[in-house]
Order: sequence, then C-alpha cells, then structure tokens
Amino acid sequence: MTTKDDLLEAAKLIRNRAYVPYSAFPVGAALRTKSGNTYTGCNIENAAYPVSCCAERVAIFQAIANGERDFAEMAVVADTDRPVPPCGSCRQVMSEFFKTDMIIHLSNLKDDIKTVTMEELLPFSFQPSDLTEPKA
Ligand code: THU
Repeated sequence: MTTKDDLLEAAKLIRNRAYVPYSAFPVGAALRTKSGNTYTGCNIENAAYPVSCCAERVAIFQAIANGERDFAEMAVVADTDRPVPPCGSCRQVMSEFFKTDMIIHLSNLKDDIKTVTMEELLPFSFQPSDLTEPKA
C-alpha cells in the first residue's frame, strides 16, 4: 500500500469516531509527518454549534500537541458526492503549519480522490510573516 492509501484508510477509520449528533455528517482526517508518524482526527460537535471542531483541525492539533512540526501529506474523507472540500477555517489552520507544496488528498466514500497542494487549497493566505510589529 502507498502512503496515500494508508492515509485514506486511516481517515476512513477515524471517521467512525466522529461525534456528530447535530449534523450527522462524520468526517475523518489523517496527517503524516515527515518522520513517518500519523495523527488522525474526526469532527467533534457541540450543542453550542460554533465551538465544534472539524476533523482536519483535530488531526493537526493532535500532531502539534505531540511536538510535531514537519508535515508531509494529509487525507480527508467524508460521504460527499465530490471529494470533500475543507472549510475556510481549516484551510487557514493548514496554511499555518503546511508548506505551500504540501500534498492534501480529498476523498469520499466512492473513492473519488482530488489531490491538491496547500497553495492550491488556499492561495495568497495570511501568513505569520505578514504580522508586523505593533506601531508605538
Ligand atoms: N466538517 C469537517 O470536519 N471537515 C470538513 O472538511 C467539512 C466540514 C464538519 C464540520 C461539522 O461538524 C460537519 O462537518 C458539518 O459541517
């Protein structure tokens, strides 16, 4: 199996752990580090809807909390007609940690796969380097 297939499988598996009583829309994500570790995430919703967290961010936050910083590849799976498009908030979080050439596989349960780079997913993104010192 390729790393891509492994990641897609891991994303599908963790999708079963999604806590989605409000949307009934489970999503799974799997993130591979350059050192070969894999971190997974599912969406976790809340009765106060806006504090819910998407699968992609759960996977990224798991990795960051485990001391990881260098990422190689990500996969995201949901039961969508087209390969699942990550939301805007997740794209921004991805762009904080992923290099512009990072590979992201978007998929669905029919195994349609759209592979994009970070730059394709969120061009012209606001970056840490755009922050300037506050003017006195
Ligand atoms: N969701 C994700 O977890 N990832 C995506 O890429 C799209 C949307 C979640 C958020 C919410 O829990 C549910 O799917 C419906 O929007």
